[in-house]
Amino acid sequence: TRIFVPCDTTALAMGADAVAAEIARQAKTRGAQIEIIRNGSRGLFWLEPLVEVETAAGRIGFGPVEVDDIAALVEAGLFEGAAEHPLALGLVEEIPFLKNQQRLTFARSGITDPVSVEDYLALDGFRGLEKALQLNNQEIVDEIKVSGLRGRGGAAFPTGIKWQTVLNAPAEQKYIVCNADEGDSGTFADRMVMECDPYMLIEGMAIAGLAVDATQGYIYLRSEYPVAHRLMNLAIERAYAAGYLGDNLMGSGRRFDLEVRLGAGAYICGEETSLLESLEGKRGLVRAKPPLPAIVGLFGQPTVVNNVLSLAAVPFIMHKGGETYASYGMGRSLGTLPMQLAGNVKRGGLIELAFGATLRQLMEDFGGGTFSGRTLRAVQVGGPLGAYLPESQWDTPLDYESFAAVGAVLGHGGVVMFDDTVDMGEQARFSMEFCVVESCGKCTPCRIGSTRGVEVIDRIRANENREANLELLADLCDTMVDGSLCAMGGMTPFPVQSVMKYFPEDLQR
Ligand code: NAI
Ligand code: SF4
Repeated sequence: TRIFVPCDTTALAMGADAVAAEIARQAKTRGAQIEIIRNGSRGLFWLEPLVEVETAAGRIGFGPVEVDDIAALVEAGLFEGAAEHPLALGLVEEIPFLKNQQRLTFARSGITDPVSVEDYLALDGFRGLEKALQLNNQEIVDEIKVSGLRGRGGAAFPTGIKWQTVLNAPAEQKYIVCNADEGDSGTFADRMVMECDPYMLIEGMAIAGLAVDATQGYIYLRSEYPVAHRLMNLAIERAYAAGYLGDNLMGSGRRFDLEVRLGAGAYICGEETSLLESLEGKRGLVRAKPPLPAIVGLFGQPTVVNNVLSLAAVPFIMHKGGETYASYGMGRSLGTLPMQLAGNVKRGGLIELAFGATLRQLMEDFGGGTFSGRTLRAVQVGGPLGAYLPESQWDTPLDYESFAAVGAVLGHGGVVMFDDTVDMGEQARFSMEFCVVESCGKCTPCRIGSTRGVEVIDRIRANENREANLELLADLCDTMVDGSLCAMGGMTPFPVQSVMKYFPEDLQR
């Protein structure tokens, strides 16, 4: 019997290693013939560690499994895949949270052993690269344009146009840089790609390299992701050995080299220009744009800087065609967006859906409401720089333009839920405080404005000169939005303004 115990950060945090060890011990004592496979995560985090057993009907799941449950589970027939047990979940793919998703990018997540090339190949792996090797540069870029893919890091710039810019820029050396400095609160989709399906990212980057004639790629990975670091490096090593990286890609004679570089833990190094500074070995200070990195990027050369999720969408697009990808979604937001449900939620995890679903569907149908069981009051979408939305906004479709129309952002797809015990005044203060800590210090509205912002919010909350200070805070927010060099200072006011607009009662004591 094949038994699957996930090896990603979330499952490990919930005790997956000890669970795997105990299953092995029980099997040995009983002389049971089992094989334990360390798979990736399905993204059903509230069930981790989710143990799966292969049966003729498909994989059945048990979760969340603790070491102390295993003896009883084995007694009940775990090794035979028949267990009647309170933790039994039935066929994993029939669990509504999973079944009701449209998984294009995360299709393999949790099914495969993340570092097994064979597993990857068995589920369409490297088919996109194979296709790309038959096309010329422009044909690859055109396929991405047809797909409608927009940057999944948050800014939603059309990926095909970015690649076209780099393709058109003449240079001896060009680069593909993957932004894996996933810093938004409540987000984990990039990490899941790297820990659960790393070859997909390798394939996406190699295709990007072929598209724009870049022979070197770097993954800029945050140091807070040690498991992703280990698995990504192992996958890269094996991809080289199997001919999917290096100087003879799939026997074509084409070349693409790839390595991982670790950041040192600064939120601002997720901003593309300070990321490039950091990659070059300098302090992560934001560069003024223009010139765009697509023209003058890493070491001054034309560079594609894309988020993990953007690059991870590429193998599907190349294999199944841009039109297939574009048949999902709405308006100008095409394809799927992997949303990440976190905070005060009953069933947190990864939800990949075509654009167009609503926040309410996400939080209620998938999330099952709050973990505390109390009334849901606010939700922050798009990381620490995204607006807090009250119930009146929860029917807004998940689409870049619809969100922009209500002064919100989808960002990288992080959704953090809060119940009615939340103090929104404190949340507004936190936004400014976050900016104080994470500002790179290059420009005044952000460096000094955020510190003054904390002080003004403190005065408002202490009822000092309320009206005058509220006006001052509104002015300060406008100045930061208009006068900051990058999105850090430019977007910090969004959550603050949303509290002033939707939750003003929390700004008084
Ligand atoms: P941006 O709008 O300045 O640029 C978006 C991308 O398009 C950049 O790569 C830029 O170089 C490129 N671009 C723009 N015009 C181009 C052209 N004509 N040709 C080729 N390329 C072009 O936005 P920015 O500052 O890069 O990103 C801000 C976003 O980052 C925010 O919306 C926020 O949601 C997101 N964010 C994401 C975080 C995460 O952890 N994933 C953390 C913080 C913010
Ligand atoms: Fe640096 Fe803030 Fe200015 Fe961005 S807005 S360049 S983080 S000081």
